[in-house]
Amino acid sequence: MSIVLSGIRPTGNLHLGNYFGALKNFVKMQYENECYFFIADYHSLTTHPTPADLHGNVRQVLVEYLAAGIDPEIATLYIQSDLPETAELYLLLNMNAYKGELERVTTYKDKVSKQPDNINAGLLTYPCLMAADILIHRSQKVPVGKDQEQHLEMTRTFARRFNRLYNVNLFPEPEAYNFGQQLIKIPGLDGAGKMGKSEGEGNAIFLAEDPKSIRKKVMRAITDSGPTEMNQTKPEPIANIFSIMKAVSSPETVEYFDDQYNKCTIRYGDMKKQLAEDIINFTEPFREKVKEISADEDYIHKVVKMGKEKAHISSAATMKEVREIIGFREF
Ligand code: TRP
Repeated sequence: MSIVLSGIRPTGNLHLGNYFGALKNFVKMQYENECYFFIADYHSLTTHPTPADLHGNVRQVLVEYLAAGIDPEIATLYIQSDLPETAELYLLLNMNAYKGELERVTTYKDKVSKQPDNINAGLLTYPCLMAADILIHRSQKVPVGKDQEQHLEMTRTFARRFNRLYNVNLFPEPEAYNFGQQLIKIPGLDGAGKMGKSEGEGNAIFLAEDPKSIRKKVMRAITDSGPTEMNQTKPEPIANIFSIMKAVSSPETVEYFDDQYNKCTIRYGDMKKQLAEDIINFTEPFREKVKEISADEDYIHKVVKMGKEKAHISSAATMKEVREIIGFREF
């Protein structure tokens, strides 16, 4: 039983790649660990300081995570800005984070070139806020993708530095949690690379997408002119469609089309029709749940309140110690 934490960006809808990537594993992990999942609404301001509908974005992400199987009674699911202790710890960590090390962070350098007109201090101290998220619950494991590993390394540095400076043993050094074998990579529909919402229209299939639109996207997926030799290796666009099929269809279905491919008798149109129907079936319970939860304002309110209260227990305990350690005392 470890303390596990992950932050979720409040942008975009969940797609099949997200589901088979981290989400499916989150759902499993919540029964085996003390899990904290939160929606990183503060972080989103570093790139989008004036969001058109912050509340709506957070709500949608919350609803989709609930629909995907995060159980708010088992895990602690909360909104970052609901936990003032995170902001307080962030402030204090900033005192022991150095400009030089922050400027060397790859994601920071990327953002500097991407948004030269908005190189704000929040962007520079992004790793301090992320460290505060993690350390506030004294988390031990953080499931992160490759792009977040450097941030986690910084968190370890900040934790170690805090312990050393104040001569305490308060913060554990959190490890990256890699799902390894359990990670199923879902490719996109445009013939190359993984599924992602930023890869272009039609590349990703969303869990809450309506069946008509799913059919349209799948039918437009990139293929080739077909195999010409028996048992030939599948080029990327075709291998990709098979990969998605493996995730959502029955083994018999996959075997059938694999066989057709190997015999050079495959008709991509038939395969795509089947794939579209299987994706629709697979995502059906999710669509239903999203509708149901989204219509239940009382339930959403209850979940958010419960998450905030549960998260507050450990964040308050950590901040009490931090304040005492640094020397803030009551008069
Ligand atoms: N930076 C993460 C991302 O962009 C989101 C995040 C914020 C996070 N705080 C975190 C992830 C703490 C893990 C732990 O995806």
